[in-house]
Amino acid sequence: MTQYVINGRKPLSGKVRVGGAKNAILPALAAVLLTEKPVVLHDCPRLLDVEKTIMILKTIGCSVKRESRDLIIDPSNINSWIIPDSYVREIRSSIIFLGSMLARMGRAQITYPGGCEIGQRPIDLHLKGLKQLGVVIDESNGYLKCEASKLEGATIHLDYPSVGATENIMLAAVKAKGRTVIYNAAKEPEIVDLQNFINAMGGNIRGAGTNTVVIEGERKLDEVEYTVIPDRIVAGTYMVAAAITAGDVFIENVIPEHLQAIIYKLREAGCIVEVHGLNVRVKGKYRLRAVEHTKTLPYPGFPTDMQAQFTSLLSVARGTSIISETIFENRYRHVPELVRMGANIRVDGQTAIIHGVRSLKGTRVTAKDLRGGAALVLAGLRAEGQTIVENKSYIERGYENLEGALSSLGADIVKLS
Ligand code: EPZ
Repeated sequence: MTQYVINGRKPLSGKVRVGGAKNAILPALAAVLLTEKPVVLHDCPRLLDVEKTIMILKTIGCSVKRESRDLIIDPSNINSWIIPDSYVREIRSSIIFLGSMLARMGRAQITYPGGCEIGQRPIDLHLKGLKQLGVVIDESNGYLKCEASKLEGATIHLDYPSVGATENIMLAAVKAKGRTVIYNAAKEPEIVDLQNFINAMGGNIRGAGTNTVVIEGERKLDEVEYTVIPDRIVAGTYMVAAAITAGDVFIENVIPEHLQAIIYKLREAGCIVEVHGLNVRVKGKYRLRAVEHTKTLPYPGFPTDMQAQFTSLLSVARGTSIISETIFENRYRHVPELVRMGANIRVDGQTAIIHGVRSLKGTRVTAKDLRGGAALVLAGLRAEGQTIVENKSYIERGYENLEGALSSLGADIVKLS
């Protein structure tokens, strides 16, 4: 069983750098299909989800070379419109290839991505938007067979500001005839980054970051060299690591604006958080204050991808905190594991009631998903004694060398494969 072994109660201190954002790199890798010219992406961490998405590109004909943290991609020779089943089953975010494959090949086939550990993960909004662009979709035998002899720009209103649906529609609309307008679009920084990446190739998209995105179609895209935005969730995870260990950590290469909700909540809990240009310094305390209510919301609200990490932090705060998870229906799977470490948390539907305890006890726990796993590592950093976090491969989907980064800050953590 692959695991992290942590001996807790060591305050973290020092500097750590944040790399490119997983959730910006994945749509950028899909957007590569929109051009036949070379693409270079800088600062791409080695993450399981990134490596698997690279395999999708290779399988359909792209050449992809990794030189340290740079990806050099030649998308000139796409020889298939079928997104390989095995990778779709492993990472459901490969649904993002639908829009760009349709734009490139006029057709696409993908197995239904299905749900994952944190929820059903429906794609109805993706399909509804693509159909409005003229895509004909045959949903049978567990496959989506899509034809788009002619993509036509459209005015699309999303019933929910879905990140993936916004991205998929943007990607297809780049090659559609005429203008596409997406109302109630997702406003996440990763949407803005996708707009900037496509525009750097010669696209013409505006409005990303607001709830209305406008895409001018029939664009011929050129070559590009691009660096995606830093990973705001990895940054937030390091910030909580500093807070929960009563440490003092300087986190380099962040965009503070992307971290506002996290900074605000950490300050509300009693942390000192200083912004220094494109870096942030976090000083924690052993007994932080409870935070009355934290509600996960679409950006710029408190990010659902930080809920588990924040639950770990509040489990050792002084007082009672309430967390409401409004984005995914099954995102408290870390809670029973935290309770086994001595946390006092009760989940009632989409709400977690957290009565802070003075300390956690190290024990063997199991990661059930990516961010929940990271939350267990954070709890282990605080706990007395040894914590073993099993199923570390979940965590490696979104964190590059987490044990190395935390060790460099003074944590006693090793990875056993
Ligand atoms: C992206 O997922 C991120 N993944 C997630 O990060 C993140 O949690 C999520 O956005 C919300 O910020 C990537 O970018 C690869 P959504 P996505 O579509 O696009 C419902 C991580 O840990 N919905 O905004 O799948 C859906 O069920 C991952 O890095 C529909 O109902 O998120 C959910 O309740 C986890 N129909 C809500 O919208 C649809 O067609 C948000 O989903 C699509 C979504």
